[in-house]
Amino acid sequence: MKTLGDLFRGNEEWARAVDENDPQFFQKLAEQQSPKYLWVGCSDSRVPANQITGLQPGEVFVHRNIANVVLQTDLNLLSVVQYAVEVLKVEHVIICGHYGCGGVQASVDGERHGLVDNWIKGIGDIAESRADELNALDEKDRLDRLCEMNVETQAHNMSKTTIVQDAWQRGQMVEIHSWIYRLNDGRLRSLGDPIVG
Ligand code: CO
Repeated sequence: MKTLGDLFRGNEEWARAVDENDPQFFQKLAEQQSPKYLWVGCSDSRVPANQITGLQPGEVFVHRNIANVVLQTDLNLLSVVQYAVEVLKVEHVIICGHYGCGGVQASVDGERHGLVDNWIKGIGDIAESRADELNALDEKDRLDRLCEMNVETQAHNMSKTTIVQDAWQRGQMVEIHSWIYRLNDGRLRSLGDPIVG
C-alpha cells in the first residue's frame, strides 16, 4: 500500500512533468477556470472524470456522489449546477453512471446499509416502477439496465432543476447528456440524444 508520503512524492513528480511539458500550465490554470463541461458522476474511485475523458484539470467541473443521483433538494449539487451554468456557462452537463455500480446494486439487494439507503431510495423506486422490463432480463443484465435507467432518470431530474429550466427560459444553451462507463474495458458510451431546452 502507498504511504501518504508517496502521495506527496507522486504530486511532486506529476507537477514537474506537467511543468516540463508546458511551463505556462499552472500559471494559466491559476488565472482562469473555464471548463466547458459539468460532470455529475459516481463517487466510485474507479471513475475519475478528467482521467477517463483525457481532459486536463481546468477543463471539467465535477460533482460526484454515490450513484450519481440528482435530487431537487440537494443544496450541494444545486450550488454546483448553478455555478456551472450561471457563472462558468458550461454548455454540456454530463450525467455519467457506470455499470456494476455498488450504489445501484445496494438499492435493490433488500439489505440494510445505513444512511445510504435513504440516498439511493429513488433508484429502488425506479426498479419497482419498471419491474416488468427488468424482470425479463437475466440477473447481470438486470443490474446493467438499472444502471442505465438510473442515469436516464437523473438526467431527466437535472433537466427539471430550476437552474436548467431558467437557463433555457433565457435562451442559454445547456445540453444534458446521459453517459455510462464500463469499468471492465474503460469505455464510455452515450445512452442517446441529449436533453435540450
Ligand atoms: Co457507482
